[in-house]
Amino acid sequence: MKYYLATPIYYVNAEPHIGHTYTTLLADVIARYKRLEGRDVYFLTGTDEHGTKIARKAKENQKQPQEFCDQITQKFKKTWQNYNFGHDQFIRTTSSKHISGAQKLFSALKDKGDLYQKEYQGLYCTGCESFKTEKELDQKGLCPDHKKKPGLVKEKNYFFKLSKYLKPLKQAIEKDQLIIQPVERKNEVLGLFEQGINDFSVSRSSQNVNWGIDVPFDKKQKIYVWVEALMNYITALDYGKAGAEANLFKKYWPVDVHFMAKEIIKFHAIFFPAILMSLRMKVCKKIFVHGYFTINGEKMSKSLGNVIEPNSLIKTWGVDPARYLLLSQFASDSDGDISLKKLKQDYDHKLADNLGNLLQRTLVMINKNGFDFKLKQVNPFKKPQAYDFRDFDLPLFLKLLDNIQVYQAIKQLDGFISKSNQYLEINKPWELANKNPAKCREILKQIFDRLTLIARLFEPVMPQISAKMIKQLENKQPQVIFKKI
Ligand code: MSP
Repeated sequence: MKYYLATPIYYVNAEPHIGHTYTTLLADVIARYKRLEGRDVYFLTGTDEHGTKIARKAKENQKQPQEFCDQITQKFKKTWQNYNFGHDQFIRTTSSKHISGAQKLFSALKDKGDLYQKEYQGLYCTGCESFKTEKELDQKGLCPDHKKKPGLVKEKNYFFKLSKYLKPLKQAIEKDQLIIQPVERKNEVLGLFEQGINDFSVSRSSQNVNWGIDVPFDKKQKIYVWVEALMNYITALDYGKAGAEANLFKKYWPVDVHFMAKEIIKFHAIFFPAILMSLRMKVCKKIFVHGYFTINGEKMSKSLGNVIEPNSLIKTWGVDPARYLLLSQFASDSDGDISLKKLKQDYDHKLADNLGNLLQRTLVMINKNGFDFKLKQVNPFKKPQAYDFRDFDLPLFLKLLDNIQVYQAIKQLDGFISKSNQYLEINKPWELANKNPAKCREILKQIFDRLTLIARLFEPVMPQISAKMIKQLENKQPQVIFKKI
């Protein structure tokens, strides 16, 4: 069965930070998990490269917009490679495939009779790249996310008949045909329907926005950057292309899960599904919304100088520990804090002392006693019943991954490792080698089998370390995996 998952496409006005990395990492873990389950997975990520915000940043850097986008996109690609993300495609909105696809889709909206022109006056926040209502601003009239006063824009634009789709959309959300997780976010979205949602502008005047995609039937207008950005999920699958390549769309549409943080739900839970309804395409199945990072209790921002550069974590601890550490700081459905001190503590305690120690001492004893244990080759994601340990609830672990509760799943696994270390402390196989070799063998076999399961279950989170563990268990040669720094 197919499984299509996508991250937001990230703005290239700034380099990747751990917020972007975190979303993509969560998606990567679920993609790997679904692959291990035997699903036919398609994993999409990429960059959002048009709009005023990016054009301005390019100018500030004395670069042409395209040159600037190329440079920042390269950094995203490199960082994603460093984190060992296994996406199937990295889409860029400045690619010709996206541009022609978005234009076709925009024309299709017109053909459905869902676009109309209107003179419009509104407050536009360039940081959000969206119009704001008075209600959405703080008491000082500033955008609450960007702390800036939105500019007054008066233009003749194309509008999308969103109102036509509100009723079926609300129903789809209420009935969980479009799941919004966690439920607090679902309620927040349903609350927006109560407040009233208006048709929205889907183009901008080319005079005011020149870095964008032309409206195909009106060159004086550009497609609103959010509308073409959302279309990336369709254009990436070669929608509109003739021939074999178009099979990607046939095979993978609709999106099974969109990953994102809370600030962009409205676009994904309201605007995009309504556009899809207009295009007579299936809406996505699930939107998974995670919380926001703060650093040492403060909002992460360049001006505060507390931005954590994602590659620096890899430099300190290596790629797999960096992945583990980012995911194990807080439950993703809430906001959470990150501090380098806590990351170091967790590396030392949970990886080096707990997991590393269990593996090392077990293998040293097995090696010393010459026990030739064979590794269970069964895939626990496909056949969980093959692994049954008193100290670990494998069906629960898998359920947590199904619910994208990666933090909770890791916690379960960490608990299993702690209990396995305790099991060794209680049973002291090192004292039994001579006294009772059969018992010694039995205890070590128990931990050997547990370690096999632990290694296999860690594969989505720490793929390289999982493979290293399996190798050591096979050849019974212990080597330190987590060096203390
Ligand atoms: N370009 C739009 C998305 C278009 S999708 C069709 C955009 N880009 S963004 O660069 O601002 O990325 C926003 C996303 O990055 C968030 O939804 C989240 O996934 C991630 N994060 C950015 N900052 C974050 C934190 N401080 N904490 C957690 N995630 C964050 O919006």
